Formats: sequence, structure tokens, C-alpha cells
Amino acid sequence: MTQEDASLEARLEEQEQFEPPESFVEQANVSDPGVYEEFEENWPECWERAADLLSWDSEYDTVLEDGDAPFYEWFTGGELNASYNCLDRHVEEGAKNRAAIKWEGELGETRTYTYGDLLNEVEAFAATLRDLGVEEDDVVTLYMPMVPELPIAMLACARIGAPHSVVFAGFSADALATRMNSADSEYLVTCDGYYRRGDALDHISKTNEGLEDVDHEVSDVVVVDRLGDALDHSLSANQHDYDDLVDEHAGASVEPVSRDAEDMLFLMYTSGTTGQPKGVKHTTGGYLAYTAWTSQAVLDVKPEDTYWCSADIGWITGHSYIVYGPLALGTTTVMYEGTPDYPEKDRLWEIVEKNRVDIFYTAPTAIRAFMKWGKQYPERYDLSSLRLLGTVGEPINPRAWKWYYQHIGNEDCPVVDTWWQTETGGMMITTLPGINTMKPGSAGPPLPGIGAKVVDANGEEVDAGQAGYVMVDKPWPGMLRTLYQNDDRFITEYWQEYSDEDADEWTYFPEDGAKIDDDGYITILGRVDDVVNVSGHRLGTMEIESAVVGVEGIAEAAVVGGDHEIKGEAVYVYAIPEDGYDAGDELAERAIQGVVDSIGPIAKPEEVIFTPELPKTRSGKIMRRLLEDIASGNELGNTSTLRNPDVVDDIAEQAESN
Ligand code: WT7
Repeated sequence: MTQEDASLEARLEEQEQFEPPESFVEQANVSDPGVYEEFEENWPECWERAADLLSWDSEYDTVLEDGDAPFYEWFTGGELNASYNCLDRHVEEGAKNRAAIKWEGELGETRTYTYGDLLNEVEAFAATLRDLGVEEDDVVTLYMPMVPELPIAMLACARIGAPHSVVFAGFSADALATRMNSADSEYLVTCDGYYRRGDALDHISKTNEGLEDVDHEVSDVVVVDRLGDALDHSLSANQHDYDDLVDEHAGASVEPVSRDAEDMLFLMYTSGTTGQPKGVKHTTGGYLAYTAWTSQAVLDVKPEDTYWCSADIGWITGHSYIVYGPLALGTTTVMYEGTPDYPEKDRLWEIVEKNRVDIFYTAPTAIRAFMKWGKQYPERYDLSSLRLLGTVGEPINPRAWKWYYQHIGNEDCPVVDTWWQTETGGMMITTLPGINTMKPGSAGPPLPGIGAKVVDANGEEVDAGQAGYVMVDKPWPGMLRTLYQNDDRFITEYWQEYSDEDADEWTYFPEDGAKIDDDGYITILGRVDDVVNVSGHRLGTMEIESAVVGVEGIAEAAVVGGDHEIKGEAVYVYAIPEDGYDAGDELAERAIQGVVDSIGPIAKPEEVIFTPELPKTRSGKIMRRLLEDIASGNELGNTSTLRNPDVVDDIAEQAESN
């Protein structure tokens, strides 16, 4: 480090607040601080501002219908089509030749789809789906990696009013089957494989394995050929080659179906407290308006920008901020197939320079990895095209924030730390980059119109500096409408905690801990339920536990998240072997494999710690907090309330010797 670098870093280390650069403010989409008051005073009509970003086939009558709360409805009576909003209207307005998607394959190939091209592709695939028999409201499952055919398939579904359910390609065969079963989905679009660090990965065998466990008939499976000759595979009777079908339908024109604002646009399964993933339902009007508005206000997206969110479309971040939000605004969205360190640790910066990316949105876990690799990688490239940086998915520590600000943003770009969830559809707590002071480590104030607060166990707002829980006391357009075919669970999971049902006052509970500063800035502390956040990916400890106890030789298990330098949290398994089984490496390996098979490699446990007993309270509940502390190497608190306090020392010793 040169002396100059060292003094710069020392200065940044002490700095706790950062103002948005003047050059940014001057051009920002939203720069009038009055926007907060405007939303406050004019709520809920303020949300017309979001709806106005869309083209409606018929105008809505009511902004918010709250007669059947918490089953809120937004823009009731309105009709629109999401694919029309993301494609046709831009083409009609003269943007036919503007790039819509710039795809970067892992091996270095690129594909650019203009808005005109993308519309053609979407129409051809929409015609294909129709021909296969897909009707309005049929759920189509998309089990696909980061290939352009994924957003094409999403928009084709949206065009004909068939909700999609995207299953992250890294999830296991079991996960695919569970989701198809839960949604009664009879159609699947998948891929033969994809590239990871230069290797061709077989995806079709995993797909076929999953299909064996689908308990209803699957009419048709469309298979994208990504690998060509790199993978030998054959298609069964109901499986079709994507290109063959699309070639047959080339030039088709498919009228976008007018959907009710409240009609389902898609389902997205996410992890919760129980072993069963939850099917989060998002709608056409509210979701699209909300993702378009937040893309405009928070990410400052403009049609002439090149915008890049490095998430996977298999998660909500990719749905909202690679596909729907950016395309609704008519910008150019970049999509990268691979990993940040292939072929070298400078891959992302190469992509930024080459595409002159204006806006870059990524996760703290990635930033921590970049930091560890060193600033020499971004320094090889000209990153001066960047105007705004964003993060999402987990808390970002101030050091990582400052590294990002300094080494990627050259101190010229505001950084937005955006807190939200699969269920919220879009961003909820973050600074507005053209208005607010930034405080590294703190996400910021709630967005205009968003009723987020920090409360104690009784629902009373906590004092500044005190820890409590996030709650949201007003509905918003991007909110989930229900859990698919499970209205009861929708209420118990999200609304029961703080609502006064008798008074018909409803409060959304996101299951996150937080604290609030006297200026109203909210710092997110992490989940307060049995959900772990590994590299920004949400996993249910119960799902992992049930995978572990499904392994022969394991009697009981507890799964917790422990601190991890890069991943934020990592998965730790505490397991009791069955009588007659040896608590050794072989059993540990099988337990790990059991988790990978049942969920996917992202859930792979960091460590399996065998123990003859699990620490339990006198009422028999496993003391997870204690296991978390052991996993994180924290000082252990009072263990005297345990039924079996001795076991704690044994486990801690075990964990240390591993
Ligand atoms: C959970 C939601 C939001 C899309 C990706 C994750 C955590 C999210 C932040 C942030 C601190 C964050 C929360 C939340 N989280 N963003 N900026 N700071 N924590 O969506 O899989 O539904 O997970 O991610 O704990 O509840 P998800």
C-alpha cells in the first residue's frame, strides 16, 4: 500500500456519513426531498405515481382496496399486460433498436437482444406455449440457469397470462419436484446444462430425476440446448427442443392478454420456519408498478442506461431488478451466466468496462470476496462509466461498504443498501441516492410511502439505539397477496404477530431484527426466525434438518447459522448418531451429501458436529441460540436454564477440535 492509499483509507475509516455527489444529484430521477412528505400526505393516492409508469389497457378505479385486509388489492379494476409493458410499448415508442438484454456467457460469448428482437423471441415462445396447450392461469415452471431463454420464457408466460414459477437452477431435483407438486404445474421449461468455471454442468439429468417425483402428469417439457455437443443426452416423448419449437413459431404474433391488476404474475417459492417452502404470490399491477418505481427512484434507472444486477434470476432480486423493473423502464439490462472469478477474479470489472455499465447492483457476500481478492483486480479496468452502486440480500458491514464506495465507485457513486424480501416484491428501506446522506452499515429510512418501524415485543416503537423488530404498518403495491393456496399460513406467518385483528388493524411482520437511529435510519440486524442467510440466499434450517435426519445413521439434528467471513452466515449441523453408527467422517460426509441432494449445493453444511445430546430447555426445546454462539465462536451465556447443561461444554470441545 502506498502512503497515499493508506491515508485515504484511514480517512474513510473514520468517516461515518457520506453525501451524495453533486454531479449525481443534478441528474437524479428523484432529487426533491419533498417526495417523503408528498407520499405521507397523499397516501395511498401517492402510489398513482408508480402506476403512472405503466401503460394500462383499462384504468383502475381504486388505488387501494382494503375491505378484506390483510388481503389488500391494488389498482383494482385496472387491466394491463406485463410483457406489453416491458416490450411492445418501448418498440412502439421508437426503441426497437435499443439493446434490452446484453448477455455475457461464461465462456466469453455474448448475445444482444434489442427490444425488437426480444419482442420477436417472446412472441415466438408465447405461441409455442399456447400450442403446447398452456392456458391463462396455468402455472409454468421454469427450472433454468442464467440463459436469455429464461427472461424470454418469463415474458412469454406473462404475455399469455400464465403465471411462472422459477426454480433456481442450483436447487436439487427434490426441490424442483416439491415446487411443481405444490403449484400443480404441468409444464416445465428447462435446460440441458450450463457452464460453471468452464465446466459443462449436466442439468437435464437432475431435471429428469425431479420429474420422477412429480405426482401429477407433466404434459410437456421444453429443453433449451445450451451445451450443444458438450453433453450427450436424449429427450423423452414429452420433451421438446426449445429451438425446434421456436423455429416453427418464428414470426408469430401473439396479442398480449389483458390481465386484471390483481391477477397473478408469478409464484416464487421461498424458505420459512417450517420444512415446507412458501409459494409467494405476486400480482401483475402492483408488483410491476412497484418494481418500476423503485428501479426509477432508488436505482436511478433511465432508458439510456446500461444497468447490471449480478444476482441470479432464480431469486426475487433477479425477477424484480434484472427483468421486470429495468425492462418496464426500457433500459438495457446486463445478464451474466457465470461466476465472478472465472476465468479470473476480474471478470465482473471486465464486463463493466466492456459494456460501460452505469449502475451496478450486487450482494455484500460478493463485495467481501472482492475485498479479499484485492483492489488490483478492479484497478485493471476503467470503471468510470459507473454512476450508482447498490447492495442487497444481507447486512453490509461498514468496511465492505467503504471498500465498494472507494475501489469500485471511486468515491463518485452513491451506494444504496436496499433492504427488502421475496415477500415485499421490491425495496422497502434504503436511502434515495439523490437525496439522503449515506451511513455505511445502515440501510437508511423507509422509502416514501412505506410504513416501516422498529418495535419491541409489545409492538411499541423502540428508542433510538435500541434493538427491536422491523414491522410495516401500511400496505404497499409490491406486497405479496397471499401464499399460494394457503391463506391461513399467509396470516399466521406475516400478520399475526402485531396486528389487532378485532380492530381490523393489520401489521406486516418481516421476521427481521433491527435498530433505529434518532434520524430514523434503520440498521438491519438479521433474521429472528429459523431462517439462515448464506451468501444472501435464504435457507430454512428446518428444511436442512429434515434432510439431515433423512440420512441413515442420524437420529436427531439441529441446524443453525454461524458467522462466516465471506458468506455472512454458514450452515452448521449438530447431529446425534443412531446407536450402532460411528460418529466419524463417513457419516458426516453422508449428512452433507444428504443436504446437497435434498436442497442443493448452496445449502452445503460448513461442518457437522456430532454430539450425544442437544442442549434443551426444561420444556424440551432445542436451545438454538447457544448452538449459534458455539458455531460463531462467541462467548457462551448462561446455560443454567438448560435441562442438560453439561452437554454444552462437550459440544464446544467437539466443535473446536474439528
Ligand atoms: C431477507 C430476505 C431482498 C432480495 C434478496 C433476499 C435479508 C435483504 C438486506 C439488507 C440486511 C437484508 C433480510 C430479509 N436482507 N436485504 N439490505 N440488509 N439484510 O430476499 O431471500 O427473501 O431474504 O434478506 O434478513 O428478511 P430473501
